[in-house]
Parts: sequence; structure tokens; C-alpha cells
Amino acid sequence: MTETALRKPAREAAPEPVANTRRLHVMTWGCQMNEYDSARMADLLTPHGFGETERAAEADLVILNPCHIREHATEKVFSELGRLRQIKEGRAAEGRSTLIALAGCVAQAEGEEILRRAPYVDLVIGPQAYHRLPELIEARRAGGPVIATDFPAESKFDALPQNGKARRARRVSAFLTIQEGCDKFCTFCVVPYTRGAEVSRPARSILEEAKTLLAQGVREIVLLGQNVNAWEGEGLNGRPWRLARLIEELAKLDGLLRLRYTTSHPRDMDEALIAAHRDIPALAPFLHLPVQSGSDRVLAAMNRRHRAADYLRLIERLRAARPDLALSSDFIVGFPGETRADFEATLALAREVGFAQAYSFKYSARPGTPAAEASDQVPEAEKAARLAELQALLAESQRAFNQASVGARLPVLFTGPGRHPGQIAGRSPYQQAVHAEGPAALIGELAFVTIAAAEAHSLRGRLHPDAVS
Ligand code: SAH
Ligand code: SF4
Ligand code: F3S
Repeated sequence: MTETALRKPAREAAPEPVANTRRLHVMTWGCQMNEYDSARMADLLTPHGFGETERAAEADLVILNPCHIREHATEKVFSELGRLRQIKEGRAAEGRSTLIALAGCVAQAEGEEILRRAPYVDLVIGPQAYHRLPELIEARRAGGPVIATDFPAESKFDALPQNGKARRARRVSAFLTIQEGCDKFCTFCVVPYTRGAEVSRPARSILEEAKTLLAQGVREIVLLGQNVNAWEGEGLNGRPWRLARLIEELAKLDGLLRLRYTTSHPRDMDEALIAAHRDIPALAPFLHLPVQSGSDRVLAAMNRRHRAADYLRLIERLRAARPDLALSSDFIVGFPGETRADFEATLALAREVGFAQAYSFKYSARPGTPAAEASDQVPEAEKAARLAELQALLAESQRAFNQASVGARLPVLFTGPGRHPGQIAGRSPYQQAVHAEGPAALIGELAFVTIAAAEAHSLRGRLHPDAVS
């Protein structure tokens, strides 16, 4: 990766907020951490006079923040870049300049290559360099370097400012990244290469960010990390803390109604974290715990470092601690060498757990990862057939879970208006979307709803009379 020539201190004081004189358009896809990063970049640029716009054609600066996890990422980036090039040329003809910045995991993995094919890109900025964005933009304007994809030692989190107009604060639920990077090296995955080694933020800085969000009206915080439950940061007492301890501290904060964390790795689910699901009421009874496969042979080849039985045992322990815990997972079908019998083991595991929701993907060979080199790749048609079969099972499992909620009285955190006038929408403790007739004043509040019906992707319910008085 190219080292950037610029090496200014990252902790430069942000200038006083100025009127929004420049327009920023951010395009994001990929995981929630990418969404968090996009929000932080927008926040970071606010005091530099950038206001956000929905329209790329109006923007003085366009940031593309794409994902690299599965294939077609690069093609998608090029098709967006082609569109942006036209906008840039059109604006240039009118005497207006447009900066195009490529960020995220694609910038990290393929920035140089993309720049060769699309020299009109002005800035290539890796996920660890976002805090230097204002400085890099100014330097670029003055003819400075284009690429910033080194992994700097200083933490980008400490350098990113909080400000009152933060993009995230316009929402009831906000992401908060506490851990970044991955040391696990699953053989199919690009994340350890695009995001670098695991880094955990200190508890103090996380708690400060959480307090700022709550003061701005946020009511639910979703802790993020590529391996969020591997978080091991400096505690308030100066000693290392694990995630359960951090959650305990966050749960004490005024105004916090609900807490979640994602994505967890089964190997990092420690006893204290399991107990937190029993002991901490603010912690939602929902856990996204990717398993990828139900076959021990495939799990070993993936370097997941646990067996199917270990996963099932872990679910048992979690459910013993919190009987109503709803589970979600990620699956990959058609990993190199996966046989019909391996795939059936995955179906069996999915059936046994009964997931409330799940994501499933066809294996996608990613350049530079060990599994991409395997000679026994599964044919595309077979992958597609297995995916359809697994998805039918997972959809049925989700339907059964939602159906079982009918008649239940659930505390719903209302996050915004519903589909129709007079409706409001929110989330159940189990992450189900819930719609109900109710006043907008309840947005940002927890209120009890009796679930009347389960639709394909959401629940419909009636507010408990006490909620509206
Ligand atoms: N850190 C998380 C997952 C991050 S990536 C974890 O370990 O669970 C999100 C999901 O994308 C993964 O869980 C996996 O199911 C899927 N994924 C990652 N690489 C993939 C690949 N090469 N092909 C298909 N799916 C992939
Ligand atoms: Fe990728 Fe595995 Fe790390 Fe998850 S744990 S980010 S799947 S390498
Ligand atoms: Fe994608 Fe990078 Fe997230 S590859 S899934 S945006 S960590």
C-alpha cells in the first residue's frame, strides 16, 4: 500500500463551525461499520463548511464508501464512478469543481488499481485515515497526494470530533464503533486485509461518545465491531475490560433505553457476556451470531475454529441465561469443497436453532484470500440451488418466529413515522419492525404494543392504552 507523504498531527483542532457553503454527497454500501464511518465523515466535515445533499449533481465533494466483502464490488464502483465523471465534467463546464473521494474497504484493497483506470478520482482514502479527511482534501486541492491507505498507529476515533449537528443524532438509534479490524483470518474473508488488525477503543472515549449521542436524543445505541465481542479496551480503572463490563457501564447512562452489539464471533462469547443477557435489562434479547456452516469439515476449512456442536452448546447456554433470546446468523453456501452432506449439516443446524432472522450468501472467491486458491470450487449453479434451499428454510423460520409474536405484548422502541399517516414504526426487543397507530410524540420512546398480526417483514400491533395517555 502506498504511504501518504502527508504526516500532519491528527489532533488538529477543528475550526469553529461555519455556514454550510459546500455540498457533500456520501454514497455508502456494506456493513454497519461503513454506515458509521460515513456518518462520522459527514460529521467531521460539518465544521469545515460542508452540508450534506441527497443529490450527487449538486455536490462539491462526493465520497464513495463501498464494500469489498463479496464480488461485483469493483464493477459497481466503476459504474458509479462513470456516472460521477459525467457530473464532474458537466459541472466543470459551468466553472464548478467537484472532488471525488473513494473511501472504505474497496479503497484500501484496490485503490491504486482503481486510480489507474479512473484517474479523475481525486482522493483514495482507507478506513483508518478518515480523521485526516479535511486535511487531505485541502492538500489535494493544492495538488497534494491522492492516496491515503496506510494504517496509521494513532486511533482515528480519538481524532474525530463530536459536534452538535451530528448526522447520527437525527435518529433514535445510533451506531457506535468500539472495535475495528479482525485477527481471525477466516479463509474466505477480506476484512483482516481491508480493516487491519483488531483495535479496541478505550472505555472512556466510548462512554463519552455515548453520552454525546444520548444528549442529542439518541435512545438506542448499537455497539459495532467486526468482532465486537473481542473488544478488550482500557477500562475506567486503567485495567483491561471485556465487553460485558463496558455494557454494564453504558447501561447506567441516563436516557439509554436499549443497547445492542454486533457482529459477534462464537469464540469470543465469554461467560460474563452471556450473563449480561440475563442481568442487564437494557441489553436487547437479540444476538447476531454468524455460524457460516453446520459442517465441521467446512468450519475447519474456513478456519472458524469451532465445531457445529460448540455453536449449538453456546446457544443452549445463552438461552439458559435469557430464555427469550432471539438469534440471527450469517451463512455461506458453496464454500470450496462443500458437499451435499456438508450442506445438509448446515440445513440441520439452521432447523435446530430456529433463527429469528438470518443472512445467507453464495461463497464468493475474494482475491488474496486462501479459499480463493482452492481447486475444489463449487459450480455456480450448485451454489445458487443450495442458497435457494437454505433461504427457503430461513424464511420459514423467520415467519414462524414472527407468527409466534402474535398476541404478545412487547416493548417497542419507536424510531420514526410509519408507512401510513397516523402510524408510527419501531422495533421490538427482537429486532422485528413493528407498526402501530399512534402519536408522533412517542417517537424516541419505549411503549407497549400488543401484536395483532405478522406480515412478511413486519408486525402490526395496537398501542397499550397507557402508552398514549
Ligand atoms: N466478522 C463477522 C462477519 C463480517 S462479514 C463474522 O465473523 O461473523 C459479514 C458476512 O459476510 C460474513 O459473516 C459472511 O457470512 C459473509 N462473507 C464474508 N466473506 C464472504 C465471501 N467471501 N463470500 C461470501 N460471503 C462472505
Ligand atoms: Fe471475516 Fe472471519 Fe474476521 Fe468475521 S471473523 S471479519 S468473517 S475474518
Ligand atoms: Fe464490507 Fe468492509 Fe464492512 S468489506 S462488510 S465494508 S468491513
